[in-house]
Amino acid sequence: MQRVFSGIQPTGIPHLGNYLGAIRNWATLQADHDCLFCLVDMHSLTMPWSPQTLREQTLGAAACLLAAGIDPTRLYNQSAVSAHARLGWIFNCVSRLGWLNRMTQFKDKAGKNRENHSAGLYVYPNLMAADILAFHATRVPVGDDQLQHLELANDIAQKFNHDMGVEFFPKIEPLVPPAAARVMSLRDGTKKMSKSDPSAQSRIVLTDTADEIAGKIRRAKTDSEPLPSEMAGLAERPEARNLVTIYAAVSERTPADILSEFGGQGFGPFKNALAELLVQKLAPIATETSRLLQDETHLLSVLRTGAERARSVADPIVNEAESLVGFLR
Ligand code: TRP
Repeated sequence: MQRVFSGIQPTGIPHLGNYLGAIRNWATLQADHDCLFCLVDMHSLTMPWSPQTLREQTLGAAACLLAAGIDPTRLYNQSAVSAHARLGWIFNCVSRLGWLNRMTQFKDKAGKNRENHSAGLYVYPNLMAADILAFHATRVPVGDDQLQHLELANDIAQKFNHDMGVEFFPKIEPLVPPAAARVMSLRDGTKKMSKSDPSAQSRIVLTDTADEIAGKIRRAKTDSEPLPSEMAGLAERPEARNLVTIYAAVSERTPADILSEFGGQGFGPFKNALAELLVQKLAPIATETSRLLQDETHLLSVLRTGAERARSVADPIVNEAESLVGFLR
């Protein structure tokens, strides 16, 4: 069985884009892969943070992932497993400044004020490589914005193997979800649905109530034309395309199939059907998330068990990596 590793930043309650683009696939992968899913709280320190918020958001994300069907024995928070930090340091010393200077995500996040960002933001990709390779994971489900980081992880693994004269770290392959699962803002069909969008109307989060979901879909931006019957008719209509994409992804049908049902109709009936579908799929997750959040002791013990399991896999691998670089053990 292939080992799968993925990480998610614990920025609180995930939104529909996170669910369709990542979480739902993770839940499916568990059936035939040896999976580990990590709340990457160490990565959260790479941008300004508040301790209280980080704590709450880690618990919120954990509750949501469990509610969405992630196996409790496979979920943990990164900082509880020291293998990440230990291998991360070794990789800081294997990775090259020239490689990190090419990372587009660093350039985007640091923006103009580069000098004032943390060193952690700069070496973030080295830690991400360590996250995966500490488990000898070979399959990594990520969005296409993370592909450059996985290439870097493979470069680090290859350089480590070459410099130490071993075949120790395996090659990593990304598992990118189908493009259909890219969910855009409900206010602007050209922007990705995002946690940082100032408008809460732009996104559906996994704890929204049935009324909130229906209201957000009703108010979602559209145009004045009826829905087309063919995919080509969506080309210049980003908002219409987004709603059709969401309907298709949630119902696990193709967008063409959705258009064959709703083509020629106005947005009124389509939005009603979409709201109903979303409520049916998401409301149980929201209810379960709220229930889990009421018992913090239980959530903490679930994460602790996950961390123990993660340690039992990663510690021997990182012990071996430490011996290979010449550390006395
Ligand atoms: N960088 C990833 C993101 O922002 C999160 C992440 C950290 C990750 N470590 C990882 C994803 C390891 C996959 C594997 O989405």
